[in-house]
Amino acid sequence: MIVASGIELRAGARLLLADASFQVAEGDRVGLVGRNGAGKTTLAKVLAGHGQPAAGTVRRTGSVGYLPQDPRTGDLDVLALDRILSARGLDEVRNDMRKAEALMSDPDPAKAERAIRRYGSLSDRLAVLGGYAAESEAASLAASLGLPDRVLHQPLHTLSGGQRRRVELARILFSDAQTLLLDEPTNHLDADSITWLRDHLKNYRGGLLVISHDVELVEQVVNKVFLLDANRSVLDVYNVGWKAYLNQREADERRRHRERTNAERQATALQLQADKMRAKATKAKAAQNMMRRAERLLEGTEGDRQADRVARLRFPDPVPCGRTPLTATGLSKSYGSLEVFTDVDLAIDRGSRVVVLGLNGAGKTTLLRLLAGVEKPDTGMVVPGHGLRLGYYAQEHETLDTERSLIENMRTAAPELTDTEQRKVLGSFLFSGDDVDKPVGVLSGGEKTRLALALLVVSGANVLLLDEPTNNLDPASREEILAALAGFRGAIVLVTHDEGAVDALSPERVIVLPEGTEDTWSADFADLVALA
Ligand SMILES: Nc1ncnc2c1ncn2[C@@H]1O[C@H](COP(=O)(O)OP(=O)(O)OP(=O)(O)O)[C@@H](O)[C@H]1O
Ligand SMILES: [Mg+2]
Repeated sequence: MIVASGIELRAGARLLLADASFQVAEGDRVGLVGRNGAGKTTLAKVLAGHGQPAAGTVRRTGSVGYLPQDPRTGDLDVLALDRILSARGLDEVRNDMRKAEALMSDPDPAKAERAIRRYGSLSDRLAVLGGYAAESEAASLAASLGLPDRVLHQPLHTLSGGQRRRVELARILFSDAQTLLLDEPTNHLDADSITWLRDHLKNYRGGLLVISHDVELVEQVVNKVFLLDANRSVLDVYNVGWKAYLNQREADERRRHRERTNAERQATALQLQADKMRAKATKAKAAQNMMRRAERLLEGTEGDRQADRVARLRFPDPVPCGRTPLTATGLSKSYGSLEVFTDVDLAIDRGSRVVVLGLNGAGKTTLLRLLAGVEKPDTGMVVPGHGLRLGYYAQEHETLDTERSLIENMRTAAPELTDTEQRKVLGSFLFSGDDVDKPVGVLSGGEKTRLALALLVVSGANVLLLDEPTNNLDPASREEILAALAGFRGAIVLVTHDEGAVDALSPERVIVLPEGTEDTWSADFADLVALA
């Protein structure tokens, strides 16, 4: 259970949340929502004890499992399975048993005797912790999240960012923590895993707080909604499920509007009356009272709440290029003994729309990295066509320089623009004033996505390589960005498991990995998108 009392959150000089009190108790399944940059991640961090509130207290009882939005880097040499097992301290027991086993054949009988006793007590401990069954439980959890056995026996540094995140999620679910704090748990998951996760969380008995832009997940899982309203720095608590929350919010909005309109009407009437009475010296006092009452009426009601701002985007026209700005022939890539794909050919025509499909680990991100030139193929080559200008949007925002500020990143991306022009582009992506001097590292997930897209826009790219561009975006920003992409005149190669994103793009062609076959898009493929 987590109890927050009077907490205040700040990000730099900005107030994110003032004087909030609430709790996440056993049986609560809370959906924490709010627009990009509202402070959801900051709040989750503080609840997890990874940060301190500016004021107030957070009390935690029982164990807490926290999945951060950004994959953390810890010791990357441990095996994936050991990382998962470490949640119940099983990795250490297993390690100690291995050590004791080696000592059991020691020539010194006293030493060997001690080792045998130690081995015995360790194996008792292992039994208490769930024993050997735990290992298969961990493996089955991992499999449900799209991590095959093979991957579990690899060290973390050989895993992709997405796979590492799944390991972390598996670890937290395996931990049996009494309270779970999950920040965008569906990022990087395929549709099967998402469905599995929804069911798993639906039946979760402890306390849960989940941040997710996946509407289906919140709809099916949560029984309470906390809305972090960035415009008011307030946390609104709704003790109802998602659908009821949406209805209640709408009703609240209507009620506020009605109350305000009534109050305004009454206040106007009072003011008119007061104006008339003021003329007579004997009624001056009464007139003053009336004015005061009118003011109080207006103060007592709240106006319509400001809607969240959304960037209105339009991607500028790309620089001209030849008929086929990008081709690739015979591309193959392996990591160690794992063959990702072999002999893939493709040609991207000017202004064309291509979707890359394939199951988890089929190499979609790898293909984009090869095309972008950030990684070398084992065989084959990528051939730039006449006038090619590439814009690459990476899943983990790895194209951003997190140490440097927004404006510095912009200067690198578009050195030919003047300072004013650079600020204007950032402004149209909703980064204004002091925001542009922030180091990119402190940006929220959605803000990083927005910045990465802003940098693509200024580059005049005529081929965009987009890897899961809609992850992390709040619904309003997602709509806006999809509309901008739909109107973009250059070519787009898209990797996504977001069916809406594919719809918006109306692709002409599809590449299915790992075979690498290129085909004309048809509705039959639409069903595969979510599976990919
Ligand atoms: N050290 C800092 N200095 C200035 N601003 C900061 C700092 N750390 C965070 N911020 C800002 O605080 C705000 C809240 O960030 P947070 O990551 O909590 O948002 P979020 O609600 O999780 O958003 P998203 O939906 O995009 O993940 C953002 O605008 C971010 O840029
Ligand atoms: Mg966040």
